[in-house]
Amino acid sequence: MRAVTWHGRADVRVDTVPDPVIQEPTDVIVEVTSSGICGSDLHLIEVMAPFMSVGDVMGHEPMGIVRDVGSEVTAVKVGDRVVVPFNISCGTCWTCSQGLQSQCETTQNRDLGFGASLFGYTKLYGQVPGGQAEYLRVPFGNTLPIKVPEGPADDRFVYLSDVLPTAWQAVQYAGTPDGGSVLVLGLGPIGDMCTRIAQHLGAGQVFGVDDVPERIARARARGVTVIGSTDKADVVSAVRDATDGRGPDAVIDAVGMEAHGSPLASLAQKATAVVPDVIMEKVMQVAGIDRLAALTTAIEAVRRGGTISLSGVYGGATDPLPLMRMFDKQIQLRMGQANVLRWVPDLLPLLTEEDPLGVDDFATHHVPLEEAADAYMKFRDKKDGAVKVLLKP
Ligand SMILES: NC(=O)c1ccc[n+]([C@@H]2O[C@H](COP(=O)([O-])OP(=O)(O)OC[C@H]3O[C@@H](n4cnc5c(N)ncnc54)[C@H](O)[C@@H]3O)[C@@H](O)[C@H]2O)c1
Ligand SMILES: [Zn+2]
Ligand SMILES: [Zn+2]
Repeated sequence: MRAVTWHGRADVRVDTVPDPVIQEPTDVIVEVTSSGICGSDLHLIEVMAPFMSVGDVMGHEPMGIVRDVGSEVTAVKVGDRVVVPFNISCGTCWTCSQGLQSQCETTQNRDLGFGASLFGYTKLYGQVPGGQAEYLRVPFGNTLPIKVPEGPADDRFVYLSDVLPTAWQAVQYAGTPDGGSVLVLGLGPIGDMCTRIAQHLGAGQVFGVDDVPERIARARARGVTVIGSTDKADVVSAVRDATDGRGPDAVIDAVGMEAHGSPLASLAQKATAVVPDVIMEKVMQVAGIDRLAALTTAIEAVRRGGTISLSGVYGGATDPLPLMRMFDKQIQLRMGQANVLRWVPDLLPLLTEEDPLGVDDFATHHVPLEEAADAYMKFRDKKDGAVKVLLKP
């Protein structure tokens, strides 16, 4: 089959790789019909590169049609239309029963000290082949795939794999009081969807921050008050002016920070020798310092006693957080990979003809799988108005 494979920093290619096959009686094989490119994929071709191997199949936002099932699969059958969550969660362990699928105890990567395995996402998360491919092997066929109805285009359902539950969790963790205010940093796919969900769930004031014109325009068109500068002082003064000098009740960080710092760099060395550590450490430090900006903006902007919800992926282990400031402002902080299946029952009823969250035209680009390399660069460089790219195998 054809698949998007990792070859190095800023280097993904479409290669021919072996078709996946049923390995366990609970496996299913899905023929992928749509597969998103995520901001998290960009980390893999930048600072998370040391945790990847040449030939790794990328992608964790797929949906498609079940083409084969193992002997013990009863929940789905050949021909069913399914969305595949990015967490590989068993559905039956203790953490899964608590709605903490991103911490699944069956697929946790204990040897490296990381949470549940993810599709297409580094050695830290199991190095499982991903879904930017013609076919995908999906374990836990009785509990993991989300069955969706026939009829509407893939765009209606594909974001159940990641964007929708990630944004939903970010808004839940933000805990904005009814009619309260929330500031969303970053208006990529995740931040954009956070603003929509916050509006839908009754936030009074929704602010957004980004400096990419197309992303600003999209959010403004849906009634978000956008601050078109990512400079901390600009953001803090704009939101304070609009909130009686206090700051918003909650801040969602949908930017994230690239991994940096020596502990992770040394882990990187253990995990792989693809890149000399001395170069990698430098890259991680520079990237990390750049990206810390979003978190420090969040800490400064949030009102006293308010909440910060981090959905951006953070990788560093030695980032100098302003703990005194956080303590003094009595900030509450919540974060983590989204627990996809935890939120699906809340989200499915919103994926209707009325389309309250605007999923049907959320994607800016539908691209043949063969053109994935170019699409990755467009999304990374925010060219050609790219906000959300769906690959079509
Ligand atoms: N927690 C999860 O489960 C989960 C799931 C999916 C994605 N993510 C993470 O969420 C983050 C966003 O993902 P995405 O797909 O929207 O990516 P993206 O890279 O398209 O979006 C990030 C946006 O942030 C903007 N930005 C950069 N610096 C900023 C700053 N200082 N202030 C405000 N905005 C700034 C960029 O211009 C960009 O538009 C990534 O870190 C990704 O890894 C987390
Ligand atoms: Zn993703
Ligand atoms: Zn589990």
